Amino acid sequence: MPDTPKDDLCHVTILGTGSYLPEKVLTNADLEKMVETSDDWITSRTGIKERRIAAPGEATSDLGTKAALKAMEEADIGAEEIDLIICATISPDTFFPSTACYIQKNLGAKNAVCFDISAACAGFLYALQVARHFLNTGNRKTALIIGAEKLSVMVNWEDRNTCVLFGDGAGAAIVQSREKSDRKIIASVMGSDGNQTAILSVPGGGSACPITPANANEKLNTISMQGREVFKHAVNAMRDASMQALERAGLTAADVAMVIPHQANARIIEAITDRLGIPAERTFVNLHKYGNTSAAAVAIALDEANKSGAIKPGDIVLLVAFGAGLTWASTIIRW
Ligand code: UT7
Repeated sequence: MPDTPKDDLCHVTILGTGSYLPEKVLTNADLEKMVETSDDWITSRTGIKERRIAAPGEATSDLGTKAALKAMEEADIGAEEIDLIICATISPDTFFPSTACYIQKNLGAKNAVCFDISAACAGFLYALQVARHFLNTGNRKTALIIGAEKLSVMVNWEDRNTCVLFGDGAGAAIVQSREKSDRKIIASVMGSDGNQTAILSVPGGGSACPITPANANEKLNTISMQGREVFKHAVNAMRDASMQALERAGLTAADVAMVIPHQANARIIEAITDRLGIPAERTFVNLHKYGNTSAAAVAIALDEANKSGAIKPGDIVLLVAFGAGLTWASTIIRW
């Protein structure tokens, strides 16, 4: 279901984007030495060639802060002008306080209200939509939204089914309300399905299953996924969310200059864009470099599309994501 009134009270615009990827590169060849896998399998089944791994002393908030500083630089916004910080993450620095609060401290953004959003790979688009609501009501003026993940700490590096898929990184955007702006969010769709929690989760470590030496040994505090099931849901949910957002915006797939989808698997992206009728040259893909960085993936891709000139002023851009929960979201922006 579309989740916002048809007419926004103001225009909500993205003023700047940023991203940060840790220096360490883990290639498929490196993984061949760790588990029984091959570059050929990983490339043909996922499209991933390498991913980034954060340093031991580098927390999710450190990645998010670096991405945020770049977004602030492009937007020409100072830390004290930011009055809302939302960090989407499933790998927070700590259970509490929120990672957004750590980022606030790092930036000196003393006027911001800060909280995290847990919506897995759809997290950045959830954050964008929540920020849009705050800005639309006039409650806040300038939001910093971040998708940041250090998934390497929750991957079972002995499980070839999952360890080849994920990476660390962060992306950010400065979002502001304007009376009128050509660059603006046009339409959004969000959805969730709590009946499918079991197909993608970290089962241990929370209140339902506190971590003990025994279950830590069984790796219950790492990512568990039924890949094929997730694949199916991902394709259907992202196709439907894209079509609903287009309909809400009064547009068709032919109007989309660039689709920036969640970066989990090249075959998932191809299945969605095939169904939408959007060709490869109008689809932004960077998962070969970073793998699946969950909440950070769309944010990093948006920044790379922006900085590389792949999206230009006036372009209709479709962002779409899907993740554990299940959660999904799509947003259409006139860039
Ligand atoms: O971010 C949102 C959430 N995540 C996703 O969207 C991911 C969704 N799922 C996927 O991307 C795919 O399902 C995977 C990439 C995870 C797996 O691809 P698949 O084509 O669905 O493979 P599969 O799980 O059905 O496994 C096929 C075979 C199995 O062997 P058998 O049982 O056929 O003998 C696996 O054991 O591939 C084997 N396999 C591997 N072989 C080499 C699984 N992982 C590996 C590996 N290297 N890393």
